[in-house]
Amino acid sequence: MRVRKAVMPAAGFGTRFLPATKAIPKEVLPLVDRPIIQYAVEEAMASGIEQIIIVISTGRSAIEDHFDSNSALERWLEERGDIEMLRTVRRISEFGPIAYVHQKEQLGLGHAVLMAKELVGDEPFAVLLSDDVMLNPGGPPVTRQLMDQYQAHRGSMIALQQVPAADVTRYGIVRPVHTEGRLVEIGDLVEKPSVDEAPSDLGVLGRYVLTPKIFSMLESTPRGAGGEIQLTDAIKALMQEQPVFGYRFDGERHDAGTRLGWLKANVAVGLQSDDADEFRAHIRGLDLRD
Ligand code: UTP
Repeated sequence: MRVRKAVMPAAGFGTRFLPATKAIPKEVLPLVDRPIIQYAVEEAMASGIEQIIIVISTGRSAIEDHFDSNSALERWLEERGDIEMLRTVRRISEFGPIAYVHQKEQLGLGHAVLMAKELVGDEPFAVLLSDDVMLNPGGPPVTRQLMDQYQAHRGSMIALQQVPAADVTRYGIVRPVHTEGRLVEIGDLVEKPSVDEAPSDLGVLGRYVLTPKIFSMLESTPRGAGGEIQLTDAIKALMQEQPVFGYRFDGERHDAGTRLGWLKANVAVGLQSDDADEFRAHIRGLDLRD
């Protein structure tokens, strides 16, 4: 079966980015001129996803508002003849269709994915963690790469990338049993291992294609580290029943859910934006000596 739906969990507290995230989700912080989550929505659409499901936190409506139409703003732009911006603004509310589900309590990423069970139904689906910004200008979007691999190998796919050895403690790290080109057959998955215990330097990053079997695994996953229902634990359980692969995707990833990662992502996106020439000249002109 084709992958048609994508789930985007966006209900986390974003504690690494406080106080910016006190009143708004980190997913609406801007990267240059768009909220972070819009990049993921555009990536999903460009990948051929037909239905997007965003998991939002109860009481926080900024994400829904962003993708909704704003007739007062549209009228204002129309009256002033700013047709280009009018098109840009209208295009945002024409993504779609986007459905929303609420996560009432922040019980972890696994729990957030489980909230989308009814809307996903009995079919494979993509998961995009939008604070992992994936850039692959000129090439296929990372979600598309995973969808193609799912189609070819009929097993859940996890986006992998080599991470610096000292950083393994921040990621889910896989134990590869067999590697063929970019495809990795996974033997095990260890969440945030110590440097000594890490089975490799291949980290799990925020894109997945999962079979619907993951939902029953999530339902029986007890609360793990930090009292949260971990997606990693459910994927480990899934591996006991079905093949799960990793795919070393082609593209650049930025963790926009942290201050430094967000700064780097802004530079990367800024250097690809319409303002790139002036921005590059500005950076060249900076005095970067200590
Ligand atoms: P993170 O691990 O980045 O957690 O979640 P977080 O709470 O958002 O941020 P920090 O660590 O406190 O800074 C990964 C993804 O899962 C979503 C987040 O919105 C993010 O996209 N998530 C996490 C939920 O939707 N619900 C949760 O309960 C936890």
